[in-house]
Amino acid sequence: MEQTLVIIKPDGLSKKITGKIINILEKENFKMAACRMFFLDKKKTELFYEEHRGKEFYPPLVSFMSSNPSLVMIWQGDEIISRLRIIVGNTNPETAEEGTIRKMYAGDNRHNVIHCSDSPKSAQREIDFFFPEEEIYNWERKEYKK
Ligand code: CMP
Repeated sequence: MEQTLVIIKPDGLSKKITGKIINILEKENFKMAACRMFFLDKKKTELFYEEHRGKEFYPPLVSFMSSNPSLVMIWQGDEIISRLRIIVGNTNPETAEEGTIRKMYAGDNRHNVIHCSDSPKSAQREIDFFFPEEEIYNWERKEYKK
């Protein structure tokens, strides 16, 4: 079972679409394995987005991400990394496919409401970046009434 890191960014929280995004992931039958609110201060954001250091969008990205808290989660499911990239859509909402999360909710290519890992290697790095093993839950669904 594959795992990926998902961040609902500060604009996602401000827009009150946290529940909507989680609902989309649950409807896909993906399972949440960890969830915590983080304030990604400047230093933590710089480290998380280290691969983009030096690009012109890096400084404003850091200041946006450290403007308010984010909701950081691990989700799991079959081929979740590639499937979620499709559901989330292109970085830029103007070129994102209709029906994707970013097309529906993102303001522009910086304020794009959600982050998800782009490969198994980055998923592992990003999961380790935020969560110690004891905060990651391997749980089974049970049947309940209604
Ligand atoms: P994310 O998927 O979290 O990965 C890197 C982030 O950098 C991206 O979402 C955007 O928030 C931001 N980003 C990427 N490209 C650009 C760009 N061309 N201009 C502004 N922000 C960008």
